[in-house]
Formats: sequence, C-alpha cells, structure tokens
Amino acid sequence: MNLRRLRLNSNIRDLVRENFVTKNDLIMPVFIKEGLDGKNEIPSMPGIYQNGENAFLDEIAECIDLGIKAVILFGIPKLKDSVGSDALDEEGLIARSVRKAKETFGDKIAIITDLCFCEFTEHGHCGIINPKLKTVDNDATLEISAKQALIHAEAGADMIAPSGMMDNIIETLREALDNNGFSHIPIMSYSTKFASAFYGPFRDAAESAPVANEYLPKDRKTYQMDIANSREALLESLIDEAQGADILMVKPALAFMDIIKEVKENTLKPLCVYNVSGEYSMVKAASMNGWMDYDSLMMEILTSFKRAGADMIISYHSKDAAKILG
Ligand code: PBG
Repeated sequence: MNLRRLRLNSNIRDLVRENFVTKNDLIMPVFIKEGLDGKNEIPSMPGIYQNGENAFLDEIAECIDLGIKAVILFGIPKLKDSVGSDALDEEGLIARSVRKAKETFGDKIAIITDLCFCEFTEHGHCGIINPKLKTVDNDATLEISAKQALIHAEAGADMIAPSGMMDNIIETLREALDNNGFSHIPIMSYSTKFASAFYGPFRDAAESAPVANEYLPKDRKTYQMDIANSREALLESLIDEAQGADILMVKPALAFMDIIKEVKENTLKPLCVYNVSGEYSMVKAASMNGWMDYDSLMMEILTSFKRAGADMIISYHSKDAAKILG
C-alpha cells in the first residue's frame, strides 16, 4: 500500500487536502475600554490590546482591510456595580460603540456583541448574585439579559452572543427580540461553555475576574460546565438549539476537540468554536521563546478546528491568520 505518493509535492498535497481555514471562518475579538486614550497591550496576551473608544475603530478598520467578516465586541466600562448598570443603559459603553461602528463601517463587517455581565459587575460574576442561594440568580439574570439584548439590537448589532451560561437564556432572548421588532437578529449561543482555566488572560484583558466574596468562590463553576462532562456538553447545545439558537458554540476549543466533533455530529446548525485567550497565550509564549514556529502552529490549530467540525472560529489569531491567508 502506497500512501506517500500523494504527499510527494505540494501541488498534489493541495489537491487532496480535506480541510481549510479561510478568512470567511474568522471572527476577531475586540476589547473597548472606557476612558482609555489610545490602546494598551495586554501583558498576558502579547499582540492583543484594550482599545480606547476611538482606537477600537482603527482595530475594526484593520480587520476589514484584512478581509475579516466579523468582530465580537467586549466592553470594559468605568462603572461597575452589582447589577451591571452600564450594560443596561442605552448610552452605555457597548451601545455607544456599536452605534459608532455601524455609523463608520455600515455593512462592511458584522458586529457581534458578547452578552454577559461579568465585565459590568463589581463582583465579576455573570449576573445578579442572590445572597440566599449563594449563586448567580438565574431568572433575575434572564430579566436583565433581555434588556441588554434589546440595547444591543437597538444600537445596531448584527448578531447577539450570550455567554453567561444561564439556563433558558436563548428562549428568553429570542422572545425579547421577536416581541420588539428584532426577529431578524440572529443569536449565537455560547451553548457549551466550560468553567476553564484557559480564560485567565481574558479576565486580565476584560478586567472581569470573579472576586471571591462571602457568597461565591473565585470561579464560575456554579454556572459554567464541568470540563469533565461530555454528555452534559451535548445536552447544553441541543437545548439551546431547541430554544432557537441560530449558531451553537463550543468553548474553549483546543482541549475540547471531542466535544466539537460530538456537537457537530448531532446538529444541523452552524457551529462556532472559541479559541480562547489562554490558548492564544500559550502559542504566543512558546513562539516568543523560540520554542515553536508561530505561523505554522497557529495554522495547524485553526485547521484542526475545521477538521473537528467548526464552521467558524473566534480567535485572537484572526488578524495574523488573515495576513497569511492573503
Ligand atoms: C464572558 C466571557 C468570557 C470569555 C468570553 N466571554 C470569560 C469568562 O467566562 O470568564 C472568555 C474568552 C477568552 O478566554 O478568550 N462571560
């Protein structure tokens, strides 16, 4: 048996290649920090920045020039309180930013909004804390999430991406959007999201690390999923699909390839994977030390997500990958 004759030169290898990353697959995360002049590099994520309220427009312009089709916005507001008021204000940071981005770029790029409260609360948890239950109050958080979704939709967001792992969030948001004239706005659900140590650098970037307090520990394990569970992982995504999610997601991605494949094989909806901050930082750190080659490592990882079943990838590598893809 000879399998090597199809590997002998790159033209033939290209002919038989089964999976590809294209620029159409990539979504770039963009951090916007209120009151910041210019931009700040995030120490644990070399090459990624917190952007001021003008600088983030330059970041989006660069994505458009590189041929990237979508960005996902994260806000770091000055005001953080117990209920995430800035996220519920139509003059709040994300609402202002979405309006600015849509005014500046129109339909040149899709603007997706991450919908959560951890960046907007003083305790850094993804919703309203119920001291009696000693956890995030699911239904109270659903109520404010519906408000937040309408604020994003009214500001002009092209797609809404709830990431808080509250039960029944998709049903709640779909109903709120449909009842208020936004039945055309898709929901990308962070449907299977694990309580992962790979989010560490993001929490530096978004200044959203949960604070230990008398009610809750310094982690999100009472709402994000246990990394050890795969049947539950599929159930989470299937429930969101049934509730009307337009796009499903597995997050993180690199250590969860089995879950990506499993979800893909059990849904006909498009599947996004989130190549999260810690995955990016590992690759950056290794390549900055000269231990591995950045470009080939990055493209191998992104291609492997496609092979596992991803239709699209949220990645901090998006701009670097788009440059290689040309
Ligand atoms: C908000 C949110 C998080 C990420 C995306 N949306 C952080 C978290 O759950 O703590 C993580 C992304 C990353 O690590 O790149 N809930």
